[in-house]
Amino acid sequence: MKILEVNDLKKLAQRRVPKMFFDYADSGSFTQSTYAANEADFGNIKLRQRVAVNMSNRTLKTKMIGQDFSMPVAIAPTGSTGMQHADGEILAAQAAEEFGVPYTLSTMSICSLEDVAAATKKPLWFQLYVMKDRDFNKRLIERAKAAGCSALVLTLDLQILAQRHKDLRNGLKAPPEINFSTFWQFATRPRWCMQMLQTKQHQFGNIYGHIKDVTDLASLHEWSAKQFDETLSWQDIEWIKEQWGGKLILKGILDPEDAQIATRTGADAIIVSNHGGRQLDGAPSSISMLSPIVDAVQGDIEVHMDGGVRTGVDVLRAKALGAQGVYIGRPYLYGLGAMGKAGVTKTLEILASELDTTIALCGERDINDVGTHNLIS
Ligand code: GLV
Repeated sequence: MKILEVNDLKKLAQRRVPKMFFDYADSGSFTQSTYAANEADFGNIKLRQRVAVNMSNRTLKTKMIGQDFSMPVAIAPTGSTGMQHADGEILAAQAAEEFGVPYTLSTMSICSLEDVAAATKKPLWFQLYVMKDRDFNKRLIERAKAAGCSALVLTLDLQILAQRHKDLRNGLKAPPEINFSTFWQFATRPRWCMQMLQTKQHQFGNIYGHIKDVTDLASLHEWSAKQFDETLSWQDIEWIKEQWGGKLILKGILDPEDAQIATRTGADAIIVSNHGGRQLDGAPSSISMLSPIVDAVQGDIEVHMDGGVRTGVDVLRAKALGAQGVYIGRPYLYGLGAMGKAGVTKTLEILASELDTTIALCGERDINDVGTHNLIS
């Protein structure tokens, strides 16, 4: 199969990853209307085609939170990535590092913070959930510092978990339980099973072994299910900021008023996000809220976005609407599930090549010059 676009990697991943994990990455909450809108709304943004403009010597290099990257694309934090492919977090972080883009490790990763940091040279970004157990949060922040992470991405839109129907229907669990109803999901994916047998990373590595009462799988599930904190407030963000002391990115902002409050926290950036359509079903797409949020913060904070980016054309659309950078979740997970590290590299290569062609045909040479003037208003 010729791999030409992100969708090709998606098809291949679907053939190679057990259904419960492919679906976990691929689904949104409830009716999935927000998940669908994230992708669909990009298509409504039309670009101005310019001709007879010198388009030689193009560059995609840019900065996010003052750090230099090869293009304005970061790898988003995604849970249970080590279940898409054995050692998934390590492989994806290595691919991102080689490509020169940031890799954000999720709190709910399979490989631990320490293991991913040991397998890479450049600093990771680390995503944090606020847990009821603040002492665990404190220790996790210390571990992120010790691992040399250069940004903390604090997720604000998951105080409770919205239901994803497919996960319940598929009997999703990490590590998986092989029983009568899940047997075929694994029996039909021998390559995945062989690779999983060769790694020892099968638990949530940032949690397992770091909580006193979590000693086995059952207690781990019980602990994590109860830990997302419904009482989270802006005061907690100040506390996290003090504990961390480094670059802070607030993820999950979808409303202009929240964006203004977030700006007043003194964080370094916000991510306009609806959690990939996995939380509030019925919320607008991220791309449709980008402009109102950019207008609301008036340049006082750097704005990033995620949700629905599938092509380099989408990256340019988001840049034109004022995002300093975008994050990709599913596109890199498809690459990982399809071909491991090489698949993540392939995803990044596809996006970079599409973005390069697109800036040229828009009559631009530097990604940092892209703006609303490139859009048909
Ligand atoms: C976790 O972040 C999830 O959306 O499953």
